This record gives sequence, structure tokens and C-alpha cells, in this order.
Amino acid sequence: MPRTAKAVLCREHNKPVVVESIAVDPPQRGEATVKLAACGVCHSDLSAINGTIALPLPLVLGHEGAGVVEEVGAGVTDLAPGDHVVFSFIYMCGKCRFCVAGRPVLCLEQGKALTTPREGTPRARDAAGAPLGIFSGCGAMAQYATVSAENLVKIDPKIPFDCAALVGCGVTTGVGAVFNTAKVQPGSSVAVFGCGGVGLSVIQGAVIAGAERIIAIDTLEPKLAMAKQFGATEALLPTPELDAVKFLKKVTSGGPDYAFECVGSGELAGTAYRAIRRGGLAVVVGVAKPGDSTAVRTMTLPFEEKTLTGSYFGSCVPRVDFPRMLGLYLAGRLKLAELITRRYSIAEAPQAFADLAAGKNARGVIVF
Ligand SMILES: NC(=O)c1ccc[n+]([C@@H]2O[C@H](COP(=O)([O-])OP(=O)(O)OC[C@H]3O[C@@H](n4cnc5c(N)ncnc54)[C@H](O)[C@@H]3O)[C@@H](O)[C@H]2O)c1
Ligand SMILES: [Zn+2]
Ligand SMILES: [Zn+2]
Repeated sequence: MPRTAKAVLCREHNKPVVVESIAVDPPQRGEATVKLAACGVCHSDLSAINGTIALPLPLVLGHEGAGVVEEVGAGVTDLAPGDHVVFSFIYMCGKCRFCVAGRPVLCLEQGKALTTPREGTPRARDAAGAPLGIFSGCGAMAQYATVSAENLVKIDPKIPFDCAALVGCGVTTGVGAVFNTAKVQPGSSVAVFGCGGVGLSVIQGAVIAGAERIIAIDTLEPKLAMAKQFGATEALLPTPELDAVKFLKKVTSGGPDYAFECVGSGELAGTAYRAIRRGGLAVVVGVAKPGDSTAVRTMTLPFEEKTLTGSYFGSCVPRVDFPRMLGLYLAGRLKLAELITRRYSIAEAPQAFADLAAGKNARGVIVF
């Protein structure tokens, strides 16, 4: 029997999200149905609404989710009803050369089933019976979601769901970019452009990695105050008169060792690249519009040995990195509860997105 669930849907680009009653089918082979407890509101959900991330509509939003397994389909042996899980939003075929080499974020099949479980057909329908897509194989902004078992990671049940949910995207993306992608070294200097849920997680990761200087850059003053709470040593509010590259080069005597772009802008990616020192590393984490591009002075590549790279989902392996993040949380070294500025009911989802767009929250979380 399908389960009835309240869900947050995007039906039309650039329109407020709608909360509707949907039907969620039981799991098929290799799938599980999860009863959601919490789902973070990530900028990537907003990007699906404004078309930056172009997925077909209508779409059940949400990918930063945590909840309890309600039912498992045939062949699912590593999950059972009652297990606490966090959603992972990447498709991992498990067989391609990237998956077997431990780099599932580069899975060659990742374009498959972007809005369904792996099998490729929808498990969610609206009240009229029309099929609904699920964001990145998750659709976690709903009371129930049926997804592939590969998109779920079992967690320690003593971790509160709202904290655990954040590990499903923002925290693993930010901390993973520091640990896995950049491999930030102790004593180094780090610049972070954009201090939302992702950028603040980069800052926390940089603290844990032993960075000596962490310079936060954001266009909103309150975000800079948050950045300092999470460990930024300096903060910069960009103004038209102030050249961020010159500022960073001056205060770090030649440029930071690392710069992380956590906004989603080609222009800022270029700024991050220009700012880093000789031999430095700039990492693009933000997701820019499809037509956006970045230019670098080609000569600086050989003469200054600078690197411009990207990081998808913190270059993580979900089953390795989620427990690692939650272990740091349990050890008191990674702040998760402090990232949650506001909790919303599902009916308040339109407000949650308006607050995200206005930059009000470190992270907003919908609790079910
Ligand atoms: N690479 C990945 O796997 C991955 C995963 C999750 C999110 N993302 C992307 O990361 C980006 C950040 O996500 P988020 O959830 O933290 O978003 P957010 O909206 O919470 O935060 C973005 C921050 O950037 C700031 N900002 C905007 N313009 C700026 C500018 N010109 N200079 C400096 N700061 C500026 C905003 O004030 C805000 O604080 C988004 O593009 C999102 O899609 C990428
Ligand atoms: Zn693969
Ligand atoms: Zn996300």
C-alpha cells in the first residue's frame, strides 16, 4: 500500500514551493522507504527552484535528510526497519572504475536516475496520480521517501536527527572539501568565499585540519559573525572600493595557501584563483549556472604552479565519511547543532526557502 505523505514540491521555476499530500509507493528490490525526521534546506534545492540545477519538474525537493527505515525491499540486507539513516544524494553504480577506485562522486553512471530510485521509475505521485521526480534520488523533504538503499547510510541512533541530516550534504561537502579534496595542511592559511551552511563547514574543517589563519568573506555582515563563531580568524565584507585579491595577498604576505569558493559564481572562482599564493590551491565548491565560466591568466599556471579544482560532495565516500563526520561531532570537535539557525515545520517550507534566499540562516532545517 502506498503511504500518504506531506511533501515540499517545486512545480514551477522561480515560484514559491508548495506543500502537498503525495503518495509514496512501497520499496521495490534494492530500495527502502524512510520515515523522515529532519531535512536541511540547502542552496542546491533553491538552485533546482531557480533552474540553476536543471531537473525536470514537478520535483519533491530535499536531499539533506535523516530518518528511520520503515520498510525494505527484496535484496536489501544491510538495512532493516528501525535503523536510523542519513540520505546520500549521489548515484553510485559500484562497478565503474571510479566507484571501484573509491571515488563514487565521479561515478560514470551518475547521470542515471537523477530524479528516481536507481531502477528509473517514479515511486512518488501527486493527489491526481501524476508521477513526481525526487531531487537527486532523494526527495527527502517529505514525510516518507522511497529511495535506493545505496542512497542511505546507517548511523548511530544516539545522534539527533536534525544534526545528522546536515551530514547528508552541507557538512560533508564543506569538511570533505578541506579533508579529502584540498588535504589542508596544519599551519596553513585559508580563504573562504561564502559563509552559508557549506562555507561554515569549510571553516570548521579548516579548524580541525589545523589551519592557522581562516579568512571568511561574505556580503552579509551577520554571516561573518557566524564565521567567527565557527573559527574564522578574520572576516572580510567585500565592498566596491576594496579589491579582495589585493587584500588577501597583503594580509597573508603573498596569498592564502587555499581558497574555497562556496557561492556558485565563475567570477568568484576567478577571484579565489587570483588570490592564492604561488603553488596554492583554489577549490570551487559552489554550483554556478550552466552557462557560467571562469577565466584564468594561462601564464600563471606554469609560472606560479597554481591549481584550480572543484569538489563534489566533499570528494566523499558516504559510508566512510558520514561516520567520520558524526564521530567528530560526538567527540565535540564538529559543531552541528550550532549550524541550525532555525527549525521549520513542513507547512513553513516556503518561509524556509525565503529565509535561505535572504541569507538569514547558517542552516534552516525542516523537522517532521
Ligand atoms: N559541490 C557540492 O557538492 C555542493 C554541495 C552542496 C551545495 N553546493 C553549492 O554550494 C553553494 C553554497 O551552498 P549553501 O547551502 O552554503 O548556500 P547559502 O545560500 O546558505 O550560502 C551562500 C553564502 O554566500 C554568500 N554570498 C553570496 N554572494 C557572495 C559574494 N559575491 N561574495 C561572498 N559571499 C557571497 C551569501 O551571503 C551566503 O552567506 C551553492 O552554490 C550550492 O549549490 C555544492
Ligand atoms: Zn560508478
Ligand atoms: Zn546540498
